[in-house]
Amino acid sequence: MTASHPLQEPGISSRITSPCILIIFGATGDLTARKIMPALYNLVREGQLPAQFASVAFARRDKNSEQFRCEMKEKITAFSRSGPLEEEVWNTFKEQIFYHRAEFHDDAGYESLKRLLNELDAKLGTRGNRLFYLSTQPAFFSLICKKLHQHQLLYDEAKIKHRFSRVIIEKPFGHDLASALALQQELRKFLVENQIFRIDHYLGKETVQNILVFRFANTIFEHLWNKRYIDHVQITVAEDMGVGTRGRFYEEEGLCRDILQNHMMQLLALIAMDPPVDLSSDAIHNEKVKILEALHFCPANLFQQTAVRGQYGPGYSGGRAAPGYREEENVSPDSLIETFVALRLFIDNPRWDRVPFYLRAGKRLPKKATEIAVVFKSPPEVLFKTPQMHQDPNVLALRIQPDEGISLKTNCKVPGPSSPIQPVKMDFRYSSYFGMSAPEAYERLICDAILGDRTLFAREDEVMASWKLFTPLLLRWQQETPEPFPNYAAGTWGPKAADRLMATDGHQWRLL
Ligand SMILES: NC(=O)c1ccc[n+]([C@@H]2O[C@H](COP(=O)([O-])OP(=O)(O)OC[C@H]3O[C@@H](n4cnc5c(N)ncnc54)[C@H](OP(=O)(O)O)[C@@H]3O)[C@@H](O)[C@H]2O)c1
Repeated sequence: MTASHPLQEPGISSRITSPCILIIFGATGDLTARKIMPALYNLVREGQLPAQFASVAFARRDKNSEQFRCEMKEKITAFSRSGPLEEEVWNTFKEQIFYHRAEFHDDAGYESLKRLLNELDAKLGTRGNRLFYLSTQPAFFSLICKKLHQHQLLYDEAKIKHRFSRVIIEKPFGHDLASALALQQELRKFLVENQIFRIDHYLGKETVQNILVFRFANTIFEHLWNKRYIDHVQITVAEDMGVGTRGRFYEEEGLCRDILQNHMMQLLALIAMDPPVDLSSDAIHNEKVKILEALHFCPANLFQQTAVRGQYGPGYSGGRAAPGYREEENVSPDSLIETFVALRLFIDNPRWDRVPFYLRAGKRLPKKATEIAVVFKSPPEVLFKTPQMHQDPNVLALRIQPDEGISLKTNCKVPGPSSPIQPVKMDFRYSSYFGMSAPEAYERLICDAILGDRTLFAREDEVMASWKLFTPLLLRWQQETPEPFPNYAAGTWGPKAADRLMATDGHQWRLL
């Protein structure tokens, strides 16, 4: 059961998914409450889930379905993008929510799960289709798949064609190349690649999906999209928040693993890839992986010159005093974990030869902003030579979030006889143009997984190519003491070394 590509379809509301049961492992966790349940509610609200649908929460806390439904009602009210809870929609949706109490390692729990799923199939007509969502700590991914396999909850795709069993895996997929390969090897004992949906929620964002449309459905850009016209590319993922309640996770993973290795690599691959031969999932993944495999730091292995790491100290955020990272909950007072990274990367192919791609991401920066900026080469100064006539390079900026949109900076004559030149911006904003709130990434991704469309999920080779790039850097960071941490104050744009990284090339970070 495969679906046509979402970009080829008239609109997501026309995509009706198949009957199925979504089983959420780790359903008492933060992700389920803030993202998964609100996403399901909105899918029901927009008629994108069939009546033959159920969600089963697999978790260890002692409660029943009624209690779980009440808790989820509160969470959906707090976190749904679509405003006040609509009672009629909720009354339909709540009947599709079931709580199943069990521990991940407990065989009896999987046997009783199997009985529950069979009963729901008979009652609701869900036809044996299963989507298992592993919203758990990564240490449980392979254990749960093993148990699902042992209890015949995963189907052999080669033999069973009329129903599906798929597994959504949350991030992070591995901690480095070796652990990612080991996890993949474990999963492949129980699943084929087509059954594995590695989530990267950035790919579910409307603005990220629009990168391909923008690049390849407009003839004016493709001819300019290369080293001849593009000077460099900047990708920024800035968060104004600190690590908050995720201190324990950060102490193990750090920002490079949390944001660079997955989300930013996907953005980079989409902005740099060649046109795919068609819009099939594999054709798109094939082009993305070529970029990821061609990425390198330059000069080779001199990471101190091409990668900067930082950690925030106390400062101000939104006009209020903000603690430093080392003062956050569950963080060691002498932690050497990075909360900021800036990198320079190159893509070893004819299109991008020697074009630097600058990436920066950080916590507790002055604002929340994700942007890809394509900076074009400066125009020749043969005509407009005076200082008054200084021309800025053209910049095409794709704002991924918030204030989603696209702007193009061009040079313009100021009205009047003296004719100075001034940069002006053509600005497109999603919200004012389309006048609707974009669906949450998790809505699109859950729908796609039910439809069997893997386009917006990371393929195995993409994940491994990215780990191949980052693992040596992470190893080196582990062995070297960084410059004294903290090295930037909360509410500033990161350490000075990040500015120097750009300045050595004659560039500077964009003011966002
Ligand atoms: N939260 C986010 O914003 C976010 C964003 C992106 C990705 N993710 C990823 O999503 C996954 C889940 O994140 P989360 O924040 O929801 O995690 P979490 O809040 O720590 O939730 C983990 C869940 O697993 C359950 N659990 C742990 N051990 C168990 C066991 N032995 N048997 C049964 N249940 C067990 C916990 O149950 P108890 O409550 O009983 O302990 C809880 O429901 C992680 O891989 C994370 O990296 C999260």
